Amino acid sequence: MSVNKEIKRITTHILQEMKNRGEKIAMLTAYDYSMASIVDDAGIDVILVGDSASNVMAGHETTLPITLDQMIYHASSVVRAIKRSLVVVDLPFGSYQGNSKEALNSAIRIMKESGAHSVKMEGGVEIAESVSRILAAGIPVMGHLGLTPQSIYKFGTYTVRAREEAEAHKLREDALKLQDLGCFSIVLEKIPAKLAKEVSESLAIPTIGIGAGQHCDGQVLVIHDMLGLNKGFRPRFLRQYANLYDVMSTGIQNYIKDVKSKDFPNEKEQY
Ligand code: KIV
Repeated sequence: MSVNKEIKRITTHILQEMKNRGEKIAMLTAYDYSMASIVDDAGIDVILVGDSASNVMAGHETTLPITLDQMIYHASSVVRAIKRSLVVVDLPFGSYQGNSKEALNSAIRIMKESGAHSVKMEGGVEIAESVSRILAAGIPVMGHLGLTPQSIYKFGTYTVRAREEAEAHKLREDALKLQDLGCFSIVLEKIPAKLAKEVSESLAIPTIGIGAGQHCDGQVLVIHDMLGLNKGFRPRFLRQYANLYDVMSTGIQNYIKDVKSKDFPNEKEQY
């Protein structure tokens, strides 16, 4: 008798069902094949190919330098690894702010050339036309409000956003606008937990929080941060689940020691 080993893939509809029944959504970033295989096999719901690749993979100070071609490279490596997760890819800075035609072309390139399932875009009403056009092409869009790192030079700092009522008011309006346009979900980054709760409860679509408290419908973290690969990065919102920096460093130091002492390779490790 053959066992049906078919894996049920996560879709945007499944995420909506999860919100409807109160089941939290778990999302993590990944940028390459090996890491994405581990994350997918572990059972994550959503993999975000974030433009944080600009920081953690390329060593840039901000997310601004990463290009559309580089995002497509990372996304296609991730897509080759996954069996179950929904893959969301960030539209990088400069690939959608110009006009809605440019935005649509960028989103189409990501979908066609990487095989990903959806795109994420930072901003609210100001990008409404682009979001509509991409959605009209059949491409699912995840919004991103609050601390939007592509606007870091406007903010001037990575501190919590929307503490003031004027900014909180705009965020509420933006969230409703993105939902009305047809976004399937919205990331809320670094905003007060109370505001994130209010927004999450006011929306039918799921919110995914990072530094936005426990009431979001799901959570996202950058994988390098939560696995402790980013030495020294310990913001309050981050829970570190492993210390891979030390694990890897010890392994590498042991390898160097074994090579230098001529212990590696031994007779069993040669032909
Ligand atoms: O690029 C990224 O990793 C992100 C998350 C922090 C939400 O946008």
